[in-house]
Amino acid sequence: MSVSSSVGSRRSIKADVQVIFMQQDEKAFASASRKLTTEIPNLRPLFKAQDFIGKKNTTALAYTSGKVGSPRLILVGLGNGADITVETIRRASASAAKRAAQSQAAHLALEVPTVAGLEPAAVAQAVAEGAALSQYKYDKLKSIVSESGNGVIKEFTVYSIDKALAPDIQQGVKTAQSLIDGVKLARDLANAANNEVYPEVLGQRAIDAGKKAGFAVTVLDKKKIESLKMGGLLGVNLGSVRPPVFIVMEYKGGPKNEAPIVLVGKGITFDTGGISIKPAPGMSDMKSDMHGAATVIGAMYSIASLGLKRNVVALVPSTENMPSGSAMVPGDILTFMNGKTAEIDNTDAEGRLILADALCYADRYKPLTVIDVATLTGACVVALGTVTTGMMGTDADTMSRLKQSASNTNEYVCELPLYEEYEELISSDYADIKNSGGRYAGAITAGLFLKHFVTYPWVHLDIAGTGIAPKPSYYSPKGATGVGVRLLTDMVMNWKSDEKSKGQ
Ligand code: BES
Ligand code: MN
Ligand code: ZN
Repeated sequence: MSVSSSVGSRRSIKADVQVIFMQQDEKAFASASRKLTTEIPNLRPLFKAQDFIGKKNTTALAYTSGKVGSPRLILVGLGNGADITVETIRRASASAAKRAAQSQAAHLALEVPTVAGLEPAAVAQAVAEGAALSQYKYDKLKSIVSESGNGVIKEFTVYSIDKALAPDIQQGVKTAQSLIDGVKLARDLANAANNEVYPEVLGQRAIDAGKKAGFAVTVLDKKKIESLKMGGLLGVNLGSVRPPVFIVMEYKGGPKNEAPIVLVGKGITFDTGGISIKPAPGMSDMKSDMHGAATVIGAMYSIASLGLKRNVVALVPSTENMPSGSAMVPGDILTFMNGKTAEIDNTDAEGRLILADALCYADRYKPLTVIDVATLTGACVVALGTVTTGMMGTDADTMSRLKQSASNTNEYVCELPLYEEYEELISSDYADIKNSGGRYAGAITAGLFLKHFVTYPWVHLDIAGTGIAPKPSYYSPKGATGVGVRLLTDMVMNWKSDEKSKGQ
């Protein structure tokens, strides 16, 4: 999916379909529709019948007799001007692209609307993001083309009639292109089944991404993982025929000696539950149990391709979680890289076991902060549904940055408490802690488990609900959403060290 920017008259922009955003406010709508009908008389009956009045996400398709640089026009509503946010624009842009995909079109031109109170660059970025992300499909393995299926728009031109806005539009579209690529990469990785993307393949995909975007990737193999004494990652891997990997990605965009931001992603390429096996219905969703890994790889892609001026490291522990004669069983005790021990209460609480070793490994970077991303608990889905990511941690400064980025990107986060009183739920008679805290406060006890392995400012994001969508919505399809790529990239983009509240 490629997005380019342009400026010029509507007539000069060549595409299969042109999209025009319209606000619903009576005055604004009347003057915009008057101008449009002067240019394109074919639109008169449409406006006269009031079939389209600019309501949010509604569309109208019209034909222009070939005088506008494209044979077709799609009008799309933004609702009332005072209520328009960048998210309103992403959604409207997605609605227009979906409507266009029902026609025989491949190239869409979208005119950047002027919205009071919003920066033109941010509006252009939102237009590009909404349209392009809405066209995502994971269908490369379908060999039979469905007759009822819509086409896919592959090329987008985001333009303005106002020549003075050229630099803003260009910058917004460039940012959007990097984010779109990062989100697409994350969705592709997380939608792929375990027989396509197993741990070694995930490592190879990270290497490919690093080559394209410009960051260094090292894939540690089982031998190296053994020599590092990563007992959590090795314990979960015991039931598998396929070996584990530990992926290290390093992007050096900042000053040489500046401490990095470290991202950690859960990379379970398939979670059967292990010996504490999951029920069959819906188990195939667990091919996306490496969405945390997909998110941090996608974010590294966006961050590096934007050339952001920060040092960022991403770590991915990766294995399948399988039941077999060699698998770990409840009662087993694992010893992690830092020497701490955990009793296995439930082999299905495997994510925290592999993350524990990765969090130990992160210590060597003396990081500014560490953010781990994981499809960690069903309990988080019960608490927050598919709308909001669960956030916990020890680093209030980074959490407030994430809240700001959540509002910029509409990838919501909500903080859950890590009160010490919950600790008793994961206490063990035989080891330092146990890996499951039972039914109550499951998202929190998982967070508290991770906290045992942390020696620096830290935030945990539980994306079990937000990473895997049961149905499509606006610019996100069913399946892997790519959640977190835009959130983390936005956070890094806005990270100004002199503004830090950490007194450094
Ligand atoms: N990968 C699952 C969590 C999950 C559930 C992700 C639903 C996405 C959708 C995780 O490994 C898991 O199985 N967690 C258990 C923990 C429990 C055994 C303490 C859970 O949430 O049931
Ligand atoms: Mn599990
Ligand atoms: Zn899992």
